[in-house]
Parts: sequence; structure tokens; C-alpha cells
Amino acid sequence: MAEQRANSSSAAGSAPGTVDLHLDLDLDGPGGVRASLTDALREAVRSGRLTPGTRLPPSRSLAADLGVARNTVADAYGELVAEGWLSARQGSGTRVAQRVARNDGGRRTKRAAKPVRRPARPEPFAPFHTSNGFYAGCPDLSAFPRAAWLAAARRALATAPNAAFGYGDPRGCLPLREALAEYLARARGVRTDPERLVVCSGFTQGLSLLSRVLRADGVRTLAMESYGLHVHRELVTASGLATTPLTVDQHGAATAQLTTHRHSGAVLLTPAHQFPTGVPLHPDRRAAAVDWAAATGGLVLEDDYDGEFRYDRQPVGALQGLDPERVVYLGTASKSLAPALRLGWMALPEHLVDRVVTAKHAGERHPSVLDQLTLAEFIASGGYDRHLRAMRLRYRRRRDRLVAALAERVPAVRVGGIAAGLHAVLRLPPGTEQEVLRSADWLGLAVQGLDSFRHPAVPRSEAADGLVVGYGTPAEHAFAGALDTLCQVLTSVA
Ligand SMILES: Cc1ncc(COP(=O)(O)O)c(C=O)c1O
Repeated sequence: MAEQRANSSSAAGSAPGTVDLHLDLDLDGPGGVRASLTDALREAVRSGRLTPGTRLPPSRSLAADLGVARNTVADAYGELVAEGWLSARQGSGTRVAQRVARNDGGRRTKRAAKPVRRPARPEPFAPFHTSNGFYAGCPDLSAFPRAAWLAAARRALATAPNAAFGYGDPRGCLPLREALAEYLARARGVRTDPERLVVCSGFTQGLSLLSRVLRADGVRTLAMESYGLHVHRELVTASGLATTPLTVDQHGAATAQLTTHRHSGAVLLTPAHQFPTGVPLHPDRRAAAVDWAAATGGLVLEDDYDGEFRYDRQPVGALQGLDPERVVYLGTASKSLAPALRLGWMALPEHLVDRVVTAKHAGERHPSVLDQLTLAEFIASGGYDRHLRAMRLRYRRRRDRLVAALAERVPAVRVGGIAAGLHAVLRLPPGTEQEVLRSADWLGLAVQGLDSFRHPAVPRSEAADGLVVGYGTPAEHAFAGALDTLCQVLTSVA
């Protein structure tokens, strides 16, 4: 048996736009080369290796790649067209048929593999794809500025020097760091420069890198808000740090508690819009956090995940502006554009830059330079600001509709955290959260309870019941339906 790799894009005379084919050919088999090729192609289609619509190489180039006569390939293609595995149309070549027959009419070959079982979509992604969902953590994905992004990508690609296609600077490419330094100073009050900015794969990678650097510095515990994302706690713990909760109330995290957390060398906060309760950090508490850091040599990690979205007045400026040597600012494109971009950034104190870059260099160096250049162009050309303005308007309208619908249909439910961001928190009567979640689930509405964000060190008995409603998540057309379902769910308890 010979394993043949038919590389239609490198073989002389092959047509561009077709596929690389890896075929197992039994050239010495009883049916000869033609039967072997037919079997191998049939098997590739049946097993799903060649998906419906895939264009096969022209018979001439596949024949050249395999070192067989062109007629042999043409005959194999013809047979598979007749069987319904392939389709051939004048001008569009030979393709895998769109509706491939499920059984092969008894023509299984001796090498026929079992049909491939496709794994179900992994569970964690499922909620973000439901059109009737209020899962917090996602912007409206249908609003991604495709045309503007594409235009920026085209401009970025057309002007990028050849060197841009090599391994990039682990800090992130300079045009993006320059664009971000200007944007963050202007829009978020961040005090930094391109030399102290490091681009990373979202906030998540930034937190992971910083946790490792802190651990290597001898820090043992990171203080965190008593409500936050479970995945962030896990990530910090995986880096060898323990976590300890700071109480969160209507003024945000009780940062005064830091003075009693003697082992904490750092604290993670969401000052602009506490996640998930939605309150901004009170000015006195902002001051207490930076005072603590200055007095103890501690570090504040500022998660500014949705700071651009403030509706009632100017966004609260970044905490980092109060003390750039003691506060790391972390931003992300996950809420402002899309999580799929995996683009985030850190404005670091000078003394941390080299250590973070070294930690980064050892692992995933940087997100795709092409995406970085596109974001740089998108920001520099004003596209980012325009997109944010449009999205602010969209989310603000949704928030107003949410508040109005609840006031009219379930007035007993209190809504909080509405001044900013893409989610709100609905306070529920004590002991009703699980019942509401079950009812939402029954009606197909994806939504999370406040309890799923509670730090494990906070006793359940101290926790308030609530729903975290990511009103930014549904596509525009699905928002009204989701809101109606939410009101139905709530009327059963309130
Ligand atoms: C509190 C919080 N921080 C940060 C992020 C963004 O993380 P990343 O940039 O890794 O997508 C999110 C996104 O859901 C979030 O909810």
C-alpha cells in the first residue's frame, strides 16, 4: 500500500483554489489503481474528511500529483459522480456532493473505516449561541462591524512591511501599542506609553501572566471581589496563588478590608462596573485601594472589561490614572468588539514590563499580528470610536427597554447596575433564585443566577438572590422575545 499525498497547490499545473488531498492508495490491490483511487476518495467523503461542497483538484493535476494517467482520475471521478458522492458541473469543477448518500449501496471496501462520530458542540459555548439568551459575558455578536473591520484589515495588509509577517514583538506590534496608548489616554484616562503596553490574548491571558509573575515574586494571595467570574479565580489558583474575597456592596468592593488581609500582595478589581453586581467603585474606595498599594508595595489589577459603556454620564476614568506605578490596567476587545478576536492589553508599571514580557515569551508570544495591525488601523482611522458610539446607543436603548418592561410587568423586581455595561442585576425575593433559573430553563431562556459568581469562601447564607441579565447578548431581532420570556419567568415569583 502506498500513501500518496496529492498536493494540488504545489504540483505543476495544478489549479489554485483546490484542496490538498491525503489519500491511502493500495496500488497493488486487486482492482488496480483506478479502484484504489475510487475507494480512497469514497472513504474520504464518507468519513467526513472531505466535506460537502469541497472542490477536488482537476483530474489533470491530481493525476500529475499521484503519478497516474489522467483518465484513471477522470474515471474515478465519473464513477463517484454516478454514485452520488461527487457532483460535477461545467465551469465549477468536481465537488463533494452537498447531500452525500448515507449508505454506500453495499460498496464498502475492505479498508472502509467506521463512520466518524462528530462530537457534540462543547457545552461551554452553547449558551453564547442561543438566540434567546441573556448570558452575561458577550456583546451582541451580530453587531460585529464586519465591513469596517474588513476595510481596516485590507488597509493594514496593504501597507504592512514584509517584516510584519515574521515572529512579532512579544509586547505586541508597535502600531497597535501606539494606537492604544493614544486611545486609552484619551478615552479612559490611562497614563501610559507604548513602551509600557503589552498586547495579550484577552484579559484572561493578562491575568494569567500577572498571576505567574506575582507568584514568582513571592506573593501568596490575591484579593478578589466576593462576586466575580469563576474562571478567573480558577486561573489565579492554577498559577499557585490563593484567593481571598473582599465584600462587595452598593459601593463596590470594600477595599478598606485590604489592610486586614495581611498576606495579599495584590488585588483584582473591576472599578468602572463591578462584575457582576454592576456598581462603580466609590471614590473613597478607589483611593483606599491605591493608598494600600502605595503603603504596602502591593499591586492593583484593574479589569476594565466594559469601561467604554457608560450611559448616564461620562465613563468613570481608569483607576490606573491615580497611580500608574502601582496599578496595572487591563483592557479587552471582547466586549467592545468580539471575544473571538482574543485581543487584550495591559498598561504596566515600568518595573513589571520586562518580567511580564519574559513570562509571555515562554508561552504564547502574541495574538495574530494581522489582527493586531487591523485593530491598530481600526482605532487610528476612527472606526473603533464610531463603533463604540453606535453600540453605546444600541445597548442603552436595550437597557431602557429592560427597565421599562420590568417596571410595567414585574414592578416588585429591583434592577441594579444599570448605569453602565452590558448587563444588569435583578434582585429576587430571598430563596427564589433556583426556582427562577429552573423556570427560565424550562422556557429556553439562558440566564445566570447571582450565586454562580459567588466566591466559595462567602457562605451561601450571606448571599443575595438575583439574576444577572446580559441584555447586550441577544441579536437585535431576538431581544424583544428574550425580554418577554424573562418577564414571564419573573411573574411566577414576583
Ligand atoms: C469580568 C470580565 N473581565 C474580563 C472579561 C474579558 O475576558 P477576555 O478579554 O479574556 O475575553 C470578561 C468577559 O466576559 C468579563 O466578564
